[in-house]
Amino acid sequence: MTAPAWERTLDVRTAEQTHALGAALGAQLEPGDLLVLTGELGAGKTTFTQGLGEGLGVRPGVISPTFVLVRIHPNLPDGARPGGPDLVHVDAYRLGSAAEIDDIDLENTMDSSVTVVEWGRGRVEHLSESRLELDLVRSLGAAVPVPAGTGTGGLDFDTDDDDEPRTIVLRGFGPRWVNPPLFSAAAEPLPAAEPLPGAGPGTMPAPTERNS
Ligand SMILES: Nc1ncnc2c1ncn2[C@@H]1O[C@H](COP(=O)(O)OP(=O)(O)OP(=O)(O)O)[C@@H](O)[C@H]1O
Ligand SMILES: [Mg+2]
Repeated sequence: MTAPAWERTLDVRTAEQTHALGAALGAQLEPGDLLVLTGELGAGKTTFTQGLGEGLGVRPGVISPTFVLVRIHPNLPDGARPGGPDLVHVDAYRLGSAAEIDDIDLENTMDSSVTVVEWGRGRVEHLSESRLELDLVRSLGAAVPVPAGTGTGGLDFDTDDDDEPRTIVLRGFGPRWVNPPLFSAAAEPLPAAEPLPGAGPGTMPAPTERNS
């Protein structure tokens, strides 16, 4: 499947909002779900996944797995969703192809877990008939040209933990994601570039039921 069923664009202003978005999504994911995260170094993929882990109620400690390709975070009996899915966190940055992905046997854990793949685009789509794609980008204008004479010159991309706006584009593919996830008002990372479902599911593009 090449065309997404829907696309939503969210603006997040802080790392905390990115985290909260992940937590809100983690609260409603199911075993078997596949998330493909795309975004440049430091875009916030791991920050988002940390929130996701919290919403799933899995063992904490989500990090950018620099040398470890896959980390499994088991669901905690005293977490947010006892008995819910585990989190399998993959960094596919160094994996060149779908064939190398197959070597790490994600199929084994897929059905009982939520599988999140940083740098997964073009590498993991074959693992499931459905997937949620998230593109994290520094919002337009976040790279502020430093005025001449201030010393640093050039583009000033933040390299520390300072909050910067990000735009997160979600796209749903396959029967699992005929409908977009709904975010509660509390976790709503407003403002959004598009209407959000605060007004109810009726604001969503009318989905077409597909049973096969
Ligand atoms: N709005 C924001 N959303 C997410 N992170 C933000 C935001 N503003 C600032 N940050 C900071 O940007 C950094 C994002 O780092 P993170 O490790 O999540 O990125 P990444 O996409 O996983 O990078 P990598 O490709 O290196 O694994 C953190 O230091 C975070 O505090
Ligand atoms: Mg990362």
